[in-house]
Amino acid sequence: MLSRKLFCKVLNKYVCNQDVHSISKRLVSTSISFSPQTCVLGIETSCDDTGCAVVNGDGIILGEAICSQTKLHVKFGGINPIIARDLHKDNIDRLVNEALGCANKGVDDIDAIAVTVKPGLLVSLEVGVKYAKYLSRKYNKPLIPIHHMEAHALIARMFHKIKFPFLSLLISGGHCLLVVVKDIDDFLLLGTTVDNSPGEVLDKVARRMKLKNIEELSKLSGGRAIEEAAKTSCGTHIFQFPVPLVRDRDCNFSFSGLNEAFLKHLAVKESEHQIAGDEIIPEYEDLCAAFQTAVTEHILHRTERAILFCQKNNFLNDGFNIVVSGGVACNNFIFNSIEKLGIKYNYSVYRPPPQYCTDNGVMIAWNGMEKIRNKCDINLPVEIDPNAPLGESIINDVKKANLKCRVIRVNKLLR
Ligand code: KG4
Ligand code: ZN
Repeated sequence: MLSRKLFCKVLNKYVCNQDVHSISKRLVSTSISFSPQTCVLGIETSCDDTGCAVVNGDGIILGEAICSQTKLHVKFGGINPIIARDLHKDNIDRLVNEALGCANKGVDDIDAIAVTVKPGLLVSLEVGVKYAKYLSRKYNKPLIPIHHMEAHALIARMFHKIKFPFLSLLISGGHCLLVVVKDIDDFLLLGTTVDNSPGEVLDKVARRMKLKNIEELSKLSGGRAIEEAAKTSCGTHIFQFPVPLVRDRDCNFSFSGLNEAFLKHLAVKESEHQIAGDEIIPEYEDLCAAFQTAVTEHILHRTERAILFCQKNNFLNDGFNIVVSGGVACNNFIFNSIEKLGIKYNYSVYRPPPQYCTDNGVMIAWNGMEKIRNKCDINLPVEIDPNAPLGESIINDVKKANLKCRVIRVNKLLR
């Protein structure tokens, strides 16, 4: 079983040269006038969740349907791309009809179809894009290509009044990004991960610790299982972790060192208790808590430098808002810590409701709606790009600024 990132890379390389980019032909070229009654159908299939939703111009969710594959992939010990693709294929038609049915609409009543085209797993992206193209042709509806990470960053605006520009921390199973969101289609990339994403390492750690053998954690995603297990830790400090990239004065992230440190701690405890087969170390809650704390402190450290950089360059004008999104943003320990950091600098910190932090069709429909409302050019080629970056990178400018920033200890912050 491959990690999310690795199998994305392998598969994407393999299939990219085939005729996927022929999808880039323009479909129905038109402009759509905006009103509160405007309706957008959103389709998301970038990884292992099939999400469909209908959203109107007032930002009301008229209908939605989602099929999460998490339980199945947890059972098999990681995402299997072929299973992910086949489940998208099996479910997409039913879910689109379910979302339309809830909204009491047919495809004819929809003004546009928004679909995730990048980044993500190629074989998964293809299912959604092909289906959206089919609907677009059949019903003569415009198709709006959507960047998955832009949609994660913007969905919070459907639930909170957040003006541009704002700072966004996007933490998920595939990404770890710090961006300044200047406008709907204008992003500045301050930092990204140099190796793994936080969701990826949380999933690995949960798997290696065999948390799925604990009944009440068995159906949860790795990150959620670690958060739950950490809640019952007695808070001992037997597990120490290094702070990644402590000497690099930038906003990049690295999680592989934390994963290695975790493996060492686990090996020591497994040998101490002579753990065999499906058994779990007795200190699993403390190890989960210590790992979660280490991940949080690293995220806080880089986010604090991003705040300092934005202040120095007056990037946020007077809008001191931070939006946290992506699946890992569901984590209350991490989110509460960022909220506390926000208080230190007088920033408000927002996130979407948990079911809209993880992948969903609503964020895709909403992004399409925001593009229509703001008259963005929506007649773009519908081009699949599995490895698309987000925005204009100013990572080197952040490095050059050489901003000193001390590591915050999360226990002190939350006190
Ligand atoms: O955004 P998402 O649904 O999919 C990607 O685009 O990657 O994020 C999925 C990731 C998984 O790695 C999962 O373990 C993590 O989000 N996640 C959590 C929590 N709930 C989901 N991580 C930490 N704490 C949680 N409560
Ligand atoms: Zn995502």
